[in-house]
Amino acid sequence: MKKFITSKHLLCFLLFPSLLFTLSISGDTLTQGQYITDGKTLISSGGNFALGFFSPTNSKSRYVGIWYNTISVQTVVWVANREKPILTGNGTLTISGNGSLIISDDNSTIYWSTPGVSAGNPIAQLLDTGNFVVREEWNSATEIYEWQSFDYPTDALLPGMKLGWNLTSGLNRYLTGWTSPSDPFPGPYFMGIHTNGDPQVILQTTKSWLWRGGNWDGVRFTGIPEMKTYSAFNFTFVDNEEEMYYMYHILDDSIISRLIVNYDGTTQRLVWLNESSMWNVFWFAPKDPCDKVSPCGPFGVCNPNDSPMCECLQGFDPESPTNWAMRDQSDGCVRLTPLDCRNGTDGFITVSMTKLPDTSNATVNMSMTLDECRTLCLSNCSCTAYASADIAGNETGCVIWTTELTDLRLYTYGGQSLYVRLAAADLIKSQGHKQGVVAVVVSVLLGTLLIIVIGFCILMKKKKKKKRRAEERSLSYLCTIWIQSWLQPMTSPQKNKLGEGGFGPVYKGTLAEGQDIAVKRLSKTSAQGIDEFKNEVLLIAKLQHRNLVRLLGFCIQGDERMLVYEYMPNKSLDAFLFDKVKGASLDWSTRYSIIMGIARGLLYLHEDSRFRIIHRDLKASNILLDKKMTPKISDFGMARIFGGDETEVNTRKVVGTYGYMAPEYAMDGIFSVKSDVFSFGVLVLEIISGQKNRGVYYSESHLNLLGHAWSLWKEENCMELVDESIGQEFPMAEIFRCIKVGLLCVQERPEDRPTMSSVVLMLGSENALLPNPKRPGFIAARGSFDLDSLTNQESFTMNAMTITVVDGR
Ligand SMILES: *[C@@H]1O[C@H](CO)[C@@H](O)[C@H](O)[C@H]1NC(C)=O
Ligand SMILES: *[C@@H]1O[C@H](CO)[C@@H](O)[C@H](O)[C@H]1NC(C)=O
Ligand SMILES: *[C@@H]1O[C@H](CO)[C@@H](O)[C@H](O)[C@H]1NC(C)=O
Ligand SMILES: *[C@@H]1O[C@H](CO)[C@@H](O)[C@H](O)[C@H]1NC(C)=O
Ligand SMILES: *[C@@H]1O[C@H](CO)[C@@H](O)[C@H](O)[C@H]1NC(C)=O
Ligand SMILES: *[C@@H]1O[C@H](CO)[C@@H](O)[C@H](O)[C@H]1NC(C)=O
Ligand SMILES: *[C@@H]1O[C@H](CO)[C@@H](O)[C@H](O)[C@H]1NC(C)=O
Ligand SMILES: *[C@@H]1O[C@H](CO)[C@@H](O)[C@H](O)[C@H]1NC(C)=O
Ligand SMILES: *[C@@H]1O[C@H](CO)[C@@H](O)[C@H](O)[C@H]1NC(C)=O
Ligand SMILES: *[C@@H]1O[C@H](CO)[C@@H](O)[C@H](O)[C@H]1NC(C)=O
Ligand SMILES: *[C@@H]1O[C@H](CO)[C@@H](O)[C@H](O)[C@H]1NC(C)=O
Repeated sequence: MKKFITSKHLLCFLLFPSLLFTLSISGDTLTQGQYITDGKTLISSGGNFALGFFSPTNSKSRYVGIWYNTISVQTVVWVANREKPILTGNGTLTISGNGSLIISDDNSTIYWSTPGVSAGNPIAQLLDTGNFVVREEWNSATEIYEWQSFDYPTDALLPGMKLGWNLTSGLNRYLTGWTSPSDPFPGPYFMGIHTNGDPQVILQTTKSWLWRGGNWDGVRFTGIPEMKTYSAFNFTFVDNEEEMYYMYHILDDSIISRLIVNYDGTTQRLVWLNESSMWNVFWFAPKDPCDKVSPCGPFGVCNPNDSPMCECLQGFDPESPTNWAMRDQSDGCVRLTPLDCRNGTDGFITVSMTKLPDTSNATVNMSMTLDECRTLCLSNCSCTAYASADIAGNETGCVIWTTELTDLRLYTYGGQSLYVRLAAADLIKSQGHKQGVVAVVVSVLLGTLLIIVIGFCILMKKKKKKKRRAEERSLSYLCTIWIQSWLQPMTSPQKNKLGEGGFGPVYKGTLAEGQDIAVKRLSKTSAQGIDEFKNEVLLIAKLQHRNLVRLLGFCIQGDERMLVYEYMPNKSLDAFLFDKVKGASLDWSTRYSIIMGIARGLLYLHEDSRFRIIHRDLKASNILLDKKMTPKISDFGMARIFGGDETEVNTRKVVGTYGYMAPEYAMDGIFSVKSDVFSFGVLVLEIISGQKNRGVYYSESHLNLLGHAWSLWKEENCMELVDESIGQEFPMAEIFRCIKVGLLCVQERPEDRPTMSSVVLMLGSENALLPNPKRPGFIAARGSFDLDSLTNQESFTMNAMTITVVDGR
């Protein structure tokens, strides 16, 4: 029995190659038993498209794909076996008796196949639209296909192709970008139609939305106002019981255009320019900072032409004024006056030329008029806004929001009116609220009321003062509580010890109300007076930024000094980064947001806070992570608290961590914001590579991480640096930019290094032109002098200076 099977296989094996040559064909149709071998193509009847084997640029892998047959640059619009290329051997594409399309090689390994179909006599045909279909042989007149490539798009949407759903069968057609220009494997970015609420087109990864094209407003997607002006195309959006899709046609046959999701996470409409033989980007998204999803948070409005770009809707104020002022506006805005639903005094303001807010949770009724829509909104206490659902003719239809309004932006051209519900008190437009009201009153009643106003101001000032006093009191209150209920962990500290920070051990505690806190016990070396210490701590307590650990209180008792911080459940970054297991939970987008967060926190310390603070000990173990993995810089200001007599130029006592210290600081004791920038650069490279700058050396060259990164950079091979545990899905361009910024930050000469404000800019903008980095400082791990022989906490004298090296955990 066994023998029989083997010999049968052998037979197939021998027959295969001869079949290959006798039956391979050209034309636009493949009938049963026919093959296309590598090198042969199907050409559609009108000559528009070709189907066959190809290799992407810089790749030897073979794929079956469809490309334009009429243009000089091979442009692939569809790939069959994008997940499984043929690496060796000769591939073939065939259609089997049951209508299944199969890509295999000489060894009968199957690389790709489609399910069998019910047609009696199935054939495969490449149509002039670029659609590769399987159909009943005799049934060429109708557009009924058993299978079609248009139902399984790759990265390109061609004219006549549907983007969206067959709601009956649940088939969802969406575009997925390539991994890279040389690899059609599905990358992290895809774009399709979301069916919730009023359907929207969304460009996204599995984790987050990159761009919201928004809902269809009868003419265009709300996020693409310019669509209205595209006279060369007509657009269709169908939303009925059976189907929900978007489709376009090109009115002039001589124009060649396609819509793609690019490997870099953008979506583009490209148009072929015949004269210059190149693809021109006709349109793309996301375009500007306001195209990111909800940069201004709930009830915020993004206007790319304003600086700052975020503003609260009329009747709303920033949720967190401090963060808002620091340009971290994602918290959004909160309502000034609650809606007064039952009394019916609420009204609406019109916000013109908007991209409508996220409609995922909105309700739509196409048959209502706008007036009915308004009435419906007023009658529902949770309704926050309404808009027309179809602006094709007169505004008709009704979209109603009953949730927060998120991802709202303005356009200078196009856009749609949004009617936002407000309480009567907020309906009058006031500039800057209180001051605006004051100005009106003054102009009307002149002098008499001025006195009242002044009185009011004084009152406000007093109130503020009172608030500040209360704040101070609460700090000392906290301290008393701490002393009363947490004397215990102080006397037997090891039990609750979280770790050892730069200036002393850190313990975990809980306040009487149950809030977890972290308590740092400062080492008793400071000569600073109590008042100085208190002043300084109070100043630091006022520094508030979402990327800085919040200082909640402090205690002074005898020469004992303690600082009370918010507790961070995820501990510090080094616990994740340098751990093989935990490191895998840090995907690229988390790492990127950590880098951005640290950059913003450091920028705040350097440039935006009331006084310039140089951290001096920035390292992975000083970056704490909250529940949502938001990075928080800790230990900032400690350097300042400790060195009362230090100037910002030179210090005799070098505090820091080897591996993160800038050369001029470690060797000459000169520190400046640029030495923090150096430490930041080291941190960035560590986050990307998952390796410590210190303690890991590469090859025989004694290079540390900086040296290693530099040599990879020079070899133009810097993607090697990327931590394996990031996984397969990451945007190369973004990582590349981060590596470059990291290298710019660790350049040897401080004056070459960028400031944190340029770092934030460079990291955040895709199109920034970055200078080329020069050689980093401290390339060799064992250089001319052997700093590395230092052990933890050891001090030594060099150039008559004391260097205290506090090792990172
Ligand atoms: C085909 O099979 C033979 C023997 O198993 C193997 O040596 C060869 O590498 C295979 N070729 C391909 C292209 O897989
Ligand atoms: C592929 O086909 C060519 C002839 O077209 C033949 O020379 C070559 O040996 C084949 N390769 C394999 C791996 O079978
Ligand atoms: C169709 O035919 C192919 C090859 O002959 C076979 O592998 C596949 O299982 C068949 N599919 C169905 C649904 O019968
Ligand atoms: C949707 O899918 C169903 C089931 O496969 C099919 O019968 C129907 O023709 C499809 N509708 C369209 C418009 O393609
Ligand atoms: C769009 O253009 C195509 C091709 O010219 C045409 O078949 C279709 O009817 C047009 N659709 C609309 C909605 O105008
Ligand atoms: C494009 O240009 C080529 C020559 O460069 C010409 O042969 C061809 O007809 C042109 N096609 C169109 C559609 O204009
Ligand atoms: C309705 O108006 C009355 C008086 O105008 C006021 O006392 C009451 O609080 C209002 N109701 C609500 C729900 O605001
Ligand atoms: C929509 O509702 C879901 C579930 O209630 C919620 O998680 C989501 O944040 C809401 N989206 C918006 C834009 O309000
Ligand atoms: C839409 O509005 C019309 C007119 O007010 C109403 O008759 C219809 O029931 C509404 N449809 C839905 C689904 O609520
Ligand atoms: C308000 O609208 C929401 C969403 O359409 C709906 O779930 C809710 O039941 C409505 N409330 C009232 C009181 O009509
Ligand atoms: C728009 O409104 C005007 C005036 O109400 C009416 O005359 C016109 O027919 C309407 N147009 C459409 C397309 O409904």
